Amino acid sequence: MEREILISPEDIRKRVKDLAAKISSDYGGKEPILVGILNGVVFFFSDLVRELTIPVKIDFIRAASYGSQMTSSGTVKISKDVEISVQGKPVLLIEDIVDTGSTLAHIIDNIRNKGADSVKVCAFIDKTERRTKAVPIHYRGFEIEEGFLVGYGLDYNEQYRDLPGIYVLK
Ligand code: PRP
Repeated sequence: MEREILISPEDIRKRVKDLAAKISSDYGGKEPILVGILNGVVFFFSDLVRELTIPVKIDFIRAASYGSQMTSSGTVKISKDVEISVQGKPVLLIEDIVDTGSTLAHIIDNIRNKGADSVKVCAFIDKTERRTKAVPIHYRGFEIEEGFLVGYGLDYNEQYRDLPGIYVLK
């Protein structure tokens, strides 16, 4: 499949730094729990966390969504839950991409139900075209309207996650 570069590795690095600076300033003295939503988030998560200048705790959650390859059906299940207690703690959810919003909506409910003190969201890509669930995004890397995106953790049939930039598949 052909692909076209959309966000270069250099632009990714700059944006991650900006986001990390803002998060470090907003959460100073609070020691938030950063919860990465697996699997695609691993590259963004590790880049972001290493740019933070505040102490944080980290954990991961995995939501399986069932649907066809280029779309998601909206049926979401937690297949791996957080393992450290979020009760009374500030939680920052980290996503690589928000598309329909179904995954994030489900995970926000899950974390709120565990009694987190606050639940905020940092998403590297906010893809707006197919949004069906209104979800808050407090820290956003890039807003992109449409296109099938791969690279920097994003896959097509588990391919292309390792590309250092973000591409649109043609
Ligand atoms: C992707 C992505 C988000 C979700 C966004 O994960 O990482 O978690 O889809 O889609 P939505 O807004 O329509 O719910 P996916 O379930 O494909 O798993 P992956 O991270 O392992 O690729």
